[in-house]
Amino acid sequence: SATSRDRLRIAIQKSGRLAEPARALLASCGLSWRESRDRLFCYGETLPIDLLLVRDDDIPGLIADGVCDLGIVGRNVLGEQDGERRNGGREPAFREWRALGFGACRLALAVPESWDWQGVSQLAGKRIATSYPALLSQWLAEQGIAADVVLLSGSVEIAPRLGQADAICDLVSSGATLSANQLKPVETLLQSEAVLAGPAAEFDAVRGELAQLLLRRLDGALRIRH
Ligand code: PRP
Ligand code: ZN
Ligand code: MG
Repeated sequence: SATSRDRLRIAIQKSGRLAEPARALLASCGLSWRESRDRLFCYGETLPIDLLLVRDDDIPGLIADGVCDLGIVGRNVLGEQDGERRNGGREPAFREWRALGFGACRLALAVPESWDWQGVSQLAGKRIATSYPALLSQWLAEQGIAADVVLLSGSVEIAPRLGQADAICDLVSSGATLSANQLKPVETLLQSEAVLAGPAAEFDAVRGELAQLLLRRLDGALRIRH
C-alpha cells in the first residue's frame, strides 16, 4: 500500500506460540520498536521496519493483499492457504523465504488409540476432522484414498469422541493433546516450523533493499543459533 512504500512492514502473531520467539528473533537482528497504545502496531526506531500484530491465520492474506511485506507464520498456515489459492485457480501470492528454527510441530493424522493401524487404506470412506482441508485433501489424493473431510476451526481432537469424525488431522507438538483425547498419531503430512514468508512477486527498490538488509541480518542471527 502507498503508506508503507518507504518502510517495510512485517506481520507477526499477536499472541500465541510464535509471538514471543518471532519478536525476539527480529530484535536479535537489531530492530527495535515503539509500541502503539493499542499494541497492534510497533513503529520501527532503529530501522524503518514496522511490526503489525495480528492473528497468524491472517498473515498470508495480508502479504497477498500487499498490506504487509513480510510475515512470520507457521509453514502449516502458509501451506494451507497456498493450497486454497491453488484450488481456487489463483496464482501463488506468497512463499516461504526462510525456515526460522522455532515453533517445530507436525501436521499429523491421528486415530483412536483402540484402532489397530494397518495403513492409509483404513481411511477409505472414513470422516476426518481438520482445520487444514486443503493440505489434508491433497495428501488423501496423493494416497489415492476417498474420505470425507470434516472442517472444524478448533478443538479438532474432541471430534471423534463427539461422534463427528472417525479420525483427525491436526498439529502435534508435544503430543499431550492427542493423549488427552485417547488418540494416536499414525501418519505425518507435513513437518512444520515458523517461517519467514514473503510475496511471490518482487518488491520495489526501497523495500527490496530493506528486505535484503533484513535477510542478511536474519541469516547471521540464524547461523549463530545453530
Ligand atoms: C495446537 C494444535 C493442537 C495442539 C498440539 O493447538 O491445534 O491442538 O496445539 O500441541 P501438543 O501436541 O503440544 O498438545 P493450540 O493450543 O495452539 O490452539 P488452536 O488449536 O486453537 O490453534
Ligand atoms: Zn491460529
Ligand atoms: Mg488445537
